[in-house]
Amino acid sequence: MGDSMDVDAPIPSTSKPVKEVPPAHNLPWIEKYRPQTFADIVGNEDTIKRLSIFSQQGNVPNIIIAGPPGVGKTTTILCLAKILLGPSFKDAVLELNASNDRGIDVVRNKVKMFAQQKVTLPPGRHKIIILDEVDSMTEGAQQALRRTMEIYSNTTRFALACNYSEKVIEAIQSRCAILRYSKLTDAQVLARVIQICRNENVEYSEDGLEAIVFTAQGDMRQALNNLQSTCNGFGFVSAENVFKVCDEPHPLLIKDMLLECTKGEIRKAYKIMAHLWSLGYAAEDIIKNVFKVCKNLDVDEPLKLSYIKEIGITHMKIVDGLTTLVQMSGLLARLCMIGQGIEYKS
Ligand SMILES: Nc1ncnc2c1ncn2[C@@H]1O[C@H](COP(=O)(O)OP(=O)(O)O)[C@@H](O)[C@H]1O
Ligand SMILES: [Mg+2]
Repeated sequence: MGDSMDVDAPIPSTSKPVKEVPPAHNLPWIEKYRPQTFADIVGNEDTIKRLSIFSQQGNVPNIIIAGPPGVGKTTTILCLAKILLGPSFKDAVLELNASNDRGIDVVRNKVKMFAQQKVTLPPGRHKIIILDEVDSMTEGAQQALRRTMEIYSNTTRFALACNYSEKVIEAIQSRCAILRYSKLTDAQVLARVIQICRNENVEYSEDGLEAIVFTAQGDMRQALNNLQSTCNGFGFVSAENVFKVCDEPHPLLIKDMLLECTKGEIRKAYKIMAHLWSLGYAAEDIIKNVFKVCKNLDVDEPLKLSYIKEIGITHMKIVDGLTTLVQMSGLLARLCMIGQGIEYKS
């Protein structure tokens, strides 16, 4: 008899939320603020201008967009396809990204089937096959792709995106116009972040936005994700909150540490390093941030270059597996010596 009570109770409460449509504010900001036209895409102006001319004439070659993550490669390709195909976008675009299976068979069958399909398009327009992150496709699959590109060249165009164009086989490279994107500048990221903060009524401090830009390092996707995580987690974007969310060593500590090195103050520098170590940061996290901070450190250029070289060498050792506090201290010792103009043998 008690059973029926237990069974009945949860039903009304659980059944209701299921019907509710997720509210718009649940959308990740990277999607909500994905630019819909070329004009909204920040940075890499020259390349985008070229594409925009291509798209007006309708005569677009196969393209590869190569560049670091989060700078708008996929967005550019989607914009281009929308301009070229307008309402036919749904029928005339095949999009395959890294989460799809893209082995040789898929390229042979799916891509080929799509390339053979008849779709009525305005004269001079082509169907578009979008392959995101081509550099993660096996060489076999790329070879299969190359043949398809050739056979269907009068009906279909390929738009490829990748991080490293060297990882795309040469046969494909030579059939495409290669467009290279570079990282966005801090100013470009900042401007967009401020715009989104205004739209979303985000409360922020100036150092909070600086922290967002610092953690993003020219990657807009990272910037927007960090911004949204900080807002969701703390409701206020301050440097402190941003570094808590991103779980990175605080750059101000690292900056102090490097400045102590320039003065030859090994003990003080070591104290900061030992503190970071005790907080549980991995050697790799620390060295990456030491590099980021050193890039913008306010010291003489030659000194900065020597520092960057030492940091790079230590980074290589860390990648090789030498991830101890002793390694990190060794770096500080060398930085102190360089800072004091003392020669040493490595
Ligand atoms: N140049 C840019 N201008 C404006 N927003 C950008 C830009 N690059 C990236 N973004 C933001 O980051 C998200 C991911 O961009 P995407 O084009 O997928 O990057 P990727 O270069 O890695 O393909 C976009 O939805 C957009 O919100
Ligand atoms: Mg992409």
